[in-house]
Amino acid sequence: MRPESHAPTGTPTGPAHTRVRQAGTNVASTSAAAAEPGAGLDLAALRRSVDEALVEFLDRQERHVAALGLPGEVGRVLRDFTGGGGKRIRPMLCAVGWCAGGGDGLPGTVMRVGAALEMFHVFALIHDDLMDRSDTRRGQPTVHRALAAIHGLGRQEAASARLGESLAILAGDLALCWSDELLHTAGLGPARLAAVLPLVDAMRSELVHGQYLDLLTTGRPGTDVEAALRIVRYKTAKYTVEWPLRIGAVLAGAGPGVQEALTAFAVPLGEAFQLRDDLLGVFGAPAATGKSDLDDLCSGKHTVLVAFALSRATASQRRMLRALLGDPALVGEGADAIRALLVATGARTAVEDLIRTRRAQALTVLDDAVLPRAAIRALRELAEATTIRNA
Ligand code: IPE
Ligand code: IPE
Ligand code: MG
Ligand code: MG
Repeated sequence: MRPESHAPTGTPTGPAHTRVRQAGTNVASTSAAAAEPGAGLDLAALRRSVDEALVEFLDRQERHVAALGLPGEVGRVLRDFTGGGGKRIRPMLCAVGWCAGGGDGLPGTVMRVGAALEMFHVFALIHDDLMDRSDTRRGQPTVHRALAAIHGLGRQEAASARLGESLAILAGDLALCWSDELLHTAGLGPARLAAVLPLVDAMRSELVHGQYLDLLTTGRPGTDVEAALRIVRYKTAKYTVEWPLRIGAVLAGAGPGVQEALTAFAVPLGEAFQLRDDLLGVFGAPAATGKSDLDDLCSGKHTVLVAFALSRATASQRRMLRALLGDPALVGEGADAIRALLVATGARTAVEDLIRTRRAQALTVLDDAVLPRAAIRALRELAEATTIRNA
């Protein structure tokens, strides 16, 4: 890691060669692969290190809770959820941000900050699934469903569901506390911790406000595309792409020039990421996405996709959309009718176009950005991976 006093830099100082491998690819020992000068950014190795940091932390928490004689189920549910899938986009971006800021290798501290970001994401997902009344996430029952199954036995169905929801609020709270603990035990010196905390604060606050806006418009879909994009920016783009990148860069001592370039790259890319998610949430295969393809339609979510459809629909198409969207009892046929309308109105194509232009906007930033070559290459690959995907 570079010394705390290292001057901000925008000059290309990182490793010259980047190898961005798919997660799960067999790689040599994490530390050797990650720390070897010139080895580049090995994102598969990074993923393994982050997972190791998470497992080590969660095992320690489990031992601590057991020693106190407290219930271990919530910790085990969190461990299963955290280890049971997930693309680890945020830790990867944090590592790429570190490289963009001129940091060398992939030090353990950066991995642990990445683990903290993943745990923050776990918190966001648990509460999101509760608020969205989702049953499935990462191909498994959502945390409120899992906790209802564990603790709700012998209770009336409604009481069991309610208990699961209440316990999931606590599970999400615990994930948020643990993300904080992972951060402040990551081994950052006081100066680095002080530099990174304002960014972490902004990330937390923006996500909550984005989710707040999302809930306010859910069940009231309309034609306002800009309002839908604003929600996308705050509920996803910033906490998923911008802040992880910038946090990594600040850890490496990056100055405002690098941070501005990362924001200019991250916001359109993060929006494209959520727009892809919106398409997958309606047209994707649940077996691949690990979540329902009905939730957004049943809840009448005000997505960009739906806003495009409502604004482009003929009067009769609009009547049909309005009748079908937001029906909690929506099943196959009704959902297929909505999907057909989303295609017929050109909304699906319009969202694909928006994803393309947002991604192009992000990539254009890289043409002029003064960043290490390894970082540029990793950012380009992540721009593809986050927006052209089926899971
Ligand atoms: C899902 O995020 C929630 C959104 C912000 C769209 P991811 O697609 O990164 O979820 P995992 O971590 O891979 O499950
Ligand atoms: C994604 O919310 C934003 C989060 C904070 C998790 P959504 O409700 O749009 O995403 P999915 O479809 O549940 O992953
Ligand atoms: Mg959701
Ligand atoms: Mg949501």
